[in-house]
Amino acid sequence: MQTVIRSAQHEDAARIAVLATQVWLHTYATEGISAEIADYTRSEFTPDKYLAIQNDVWAHIWVAERGAHLIGFAVLHMGVPCPTRASTLAELQTLYVQAHFVGQGVGRQLLTVAEKWAFDLAGMPLWLTVNAHNAQAIGFYMRQGFTKQGTTDFVLGDQRHENLVLIGRTPPCT
Ligand SMILES: CC(C)(COP(=O)(O)OP(=O)(O)OC[C@H]1O[C@@H](n2cnc3c(N)ncnc32)[C@H](O)[C@@H]1OP(=O)(O)O)[C@@H](O)C(=O)NCCC(=O)NCCS
Repeated sequence: MQTVIRSAQHEDAARIAVLATQVWLHTYATEGISAEIADYTRSEFTPDKYLAIQNDVWAHIWVAERGAHLIGFAVLHMGVPCPTRASTLAELQTLYVQAHFVGQGVGRQLLTVAEKWAFDLAGMPLWLTVNAHNAQAIGFYMRQGFTKQGTTDFVLGDQRHENLVLIGRTPPCT
């Protein structure tokens, strides 16, 4: 079945929230569900949050759909300075593909539309943070021409998790 990449609509918000929860837990909750993880996912991945993003003129969400099912999505925020290169303001905040569909080109398609959008609008490459232990995602981004620019920390409860700061190509690959 064909994968369709399109801008998110308001009626997608609930499915995006559920998909975000599933992908985040699958990727990061590898030792089970702690109280911090339960609190974080329940407060972070809500339909209201994704509706607010869709109503934000500086942000954009794309979804990947097969038939009536969402299988991935990407969230881009403009106007967010990169911590290691403040002139780069296009943050790819999320790129999630459901585990059943990884390795089928869905992530690359979502990344390509976000890169093109940021470049056409502002001539900027994307920047993003990725957990330093997320070898699969880091390998994917390196394959797409991203380079490491530095590190930052993601704090969850009383734990710090090292994140890499990556920057994409300018102009993007199309
Ligand atoms: C990371 C992620 C978005 C990649 O999406 P995907 O749909 O699996 O990737 P694709 O199938 O589009 O891969 C595109 C290309 O990257 C390559 N690639 C993918 N993962 C790779 C890896 N770990 N190492 C090297 N190359 C990789 C593919 O082989 C493919 O190469 P090609 O252009 O020669 O065909 C997806 O695996 C995912 O959602 N992971 C869980 C959530 C996550 O970690 N998100 C990122 C957080 S910042």
